Amino acid sequence: MAYRWTNDLRRADVTPESLWLNRRQVIVGALGAGALGTIASPAMAEALKPNSWEDITSYNNYYEFGTSKEDPATNAHMLNTSGWEIEIDGMVDAPGLYSVAALTDDLTEEERIYRFRCVEAWAMVVPWNGFELKDILDKVGVQSGAKYVAFETALRPDEMPGVRYSVLDWPYREGLRLDEAMHPLTMMATGIYGKPIPNQNGAPIRLVVPWKYGFKSIKSIVRITLTDEEPPTSWNMSNRREYGFYSNVNPEVNHPRWSQATERKIGGGLFNRRQPTLMFNGYGDEVASLYDGMDLSKFF
Ligand code: MTE
Repeated sequence: MAYRWTNDLRRADVTPESLWLNRRQVIVGALGAGALGTIASPAMAEALKPNSWEDITSYNNYYEFGTSKEDPATNAHMLNTSGWEIEIDGMVDAPGLYSVAALTDDLTEEERIYRFRCVEAWAMVVPWNGFELKDILDKVGVQSGAKYVAFETALRPDEMPGVRYSVLDWPYREGLRLDEAMHPLTMMATGIYGKPIPNQNGAPIRLVVPWKYGFKSIKSIVRITLTDEEPPTSWNMSNRREYGFYSNVNPEVNHPRWSQATERKIGGGLFNRRQPTLMFNGYGDEVASLYDGMDLSKFF
């Protein structure tokens, strides 16, 4: 199966950053308007170029460290990620507390994947590395009645200055339907550009769901629960009318306060114009079938 922004690069190819950028440009050039479909213009090529390490790590949303885009880069060093464990519970065969190493010990290097995301109105293209969420769900054994996966971020008031303010009902919570969670595009990221993921981007492990708006991609995960009921999610709890459970990128469904029809990539140079937002962020061929028969203006 060919993914729009997937490539076959391995760890050796992605470091250092500059080499990787060159490789990527070659790949975009070589595939041209064929495999990459609509990528015919310089503007589209620019839109697919990964953002710099600097862009990716200095302009963030991570409200546990403050609500301005610079706060996470300033404050996230306070989070102690050593000895990190994830509690996996609910409808699984092997519930328990797992270190990231324990969850991934049987994955080969080749099973680690490198891909981009380009999400939301403040779109960035990030060369994440990590593994598929499915890999760890298979490892713990999902029971047959499970229908959803719920996620929780750490809640550590001593290390997270932002949680003193009730901008959200902490801890940060997200959820996916089980088939979304098992999809090969849904990844657990542990790195960027082949380096460990920085705290402001969700160290040591966060979700990346490239066909959904950025807030679904929950950071610094400490709990994963398999359940048979749609789990509560932070932004939906905070404003049900504006943020639905699915939150698929969809230019046809506007946020009540703004249009979602176009987006502009952060950083970028000469060709950094607003681009039309693509249905499912451009991953329609891969994921549209998950929603067959659903009214996406109702299930937004
Ligand atoms: N996860 C937690 N725990 N707290 C947050 O505030 N913000 C979300 C998402 N995950 C957020 C979170 C939002 S709104 C976005 S757009 C992305 O993280 C931003 O990820 P980035 O900073 O790595 O680009």
